[in-house]
Amino acid sequence: MSAVQQCLQQLQADFALSAAQLAAIIGAFLHDMEEGINGRPSSLAMLPSFLTKPAGSEKGVFLALDFGGTNVRVLLAELTGKGKYTILARHNVLLADPVKGYDYTSSSATAADLFGFLADQLALIASPDKIYLLGHTFSFPCRQTGINESFLLYWTKEIKTAGVEGQNIAELLRQALFSRSLFHIHPVVIANDTVSALLAAAYQDTYADIGSICGTGHNTCYLEPSGHIQPMYINIESGNFDKLPGNRYDTLLDKASSRPGAAMLEKRCAGRYIGELLRLVLVDMIQEKILFSGSCPPFLRNEHSLTGKDVAVLQHAADKPEQTAAWLASHSSQLISTAGDQQLLQTAAKLIAERSARLAAATYAAVLKRIDPSLDYRHTIAIDGSLYEKLPGYAAAIAAALQELLGNKSKQVKCILAKDGSGIGAAIAAATTHSCAKGTVPVTHAY
Ligand code: BGC
Repeated sequence: MSAVQQCLQQLQADFALSAAQLAAIIGAFLHDMEEGINGRPSSLAMLPSFLTKPAGSEKGVFLALDFGGTNVRVLLAELTGKGKYTILARHNVLLADPVKGYDYTSSSATAADLFGFLADQLALIASPDKIYLLGHTFSFPCRQTGINESFLLYWTKEIKTAGVEGQNIAELLRQALFSRSLFHIHPVVIANDTVSALLAAAYQDTYADIGSICGTGHNTCYLEPSGHIQPMYINIESGNFDKLPGNRYDTLLDKASSRPGAAMLEKRCAGRYIGELLRLVLVDMIQEKILFSGSCPPFLRNEHSLTGKDVAVLQHAADKPEQTAAWLASHSSQLISTAGDQQLLQTAAKLIAERSARLAAATYAAVLKRIDPSLDYRHTIAIDGSLYEKLPGYAAAIAAALQELLGNKSKQVKCILAKDGSGIGAAIAAATTHSCAKGTVPVTHAY
């Protein structure tokens, strides 16, 4: 067997997940869900959202702020009822932009810097002569004590902004709006992005009861039927699930991360990490002198120099050697690659992407098992995020894994792209929490 073939075999052993392994993951995930929801120590925080299914008839104009890990999106949406809405205005901006010379995600940025920046983005689309109710999607683990009180437990996705952990996010935003005299913007609700994505889907589709993000980060929420008063969306914080098989690349990535030992599922699944996993695999193959004749091109020497986008490009290039060669040329003009090199790159990208999709699917299967053990009912899983939307083959791999895990009952389950769900869902959240919300009204008072 050639060295390349041996390496391909090893990659398969490192990243492929058998049906038996997925079944074990489902069992362990279910166990951790049960522990978490009962307040016992668990890798799954199972955080209450205080939000429930929208009626679909909510109406009015609402402002939404969607703070993910890479971008900030603000939008003004008009909900017109019957599950329909129109986006009246929108504005997207990066949280860190080396060209413009700012980075609100680094430890040198403060809470006031970050939330001031968010307030400034809202001011761009909120006209000063109207009052707006604002729904805020905040895509990090928060302990909520009410619909508009949410304390950040810890940062994820390698964000390090100082002075935010432990703080009430709603209060930080209120202060920023106040200090800019933006008295016409009234934040009324804060929600995790999984919950917003689910709300956006449930506004139109009554079967939607699971929401997930497969993007920079990874997480899932669902409608827990056994709420004390009424069913409630629970943010599982599934990215922190830790009963998973791993390989030496997972260990290396974890050790070099800002929170070693935490976010183990997210580190195998999410866009923030899969590029780095690919880089670690490639560097290992170079050290073993199997790839690029053992010479490491400069673009592979720095941590996180590859991103989820590189995984997507290489995955798309499967069976198209010229695309892999073009990708290499765009990173390093001097690099000469062989057909074997190209095959190794494509296979590594494909296996990493497939493992991510299969792990996500296993957690969806676990949630389904909790809410409907014999799958007697229909379910829609609303998924937002760049991997689900843009990574070639990702959505299909999730669907295939669900079919493998659920058998012919998988026809009860539909996965949909909840595009922009985390933004529009915030507007819907604002509508559901404000019974008399009828849209924007003229300014009559400051708060
Ligand atoms: C956060 C979650 C979030 C997910 C997707 C994770 O890093 O912990 O709260 O839902 O990213 O954005």
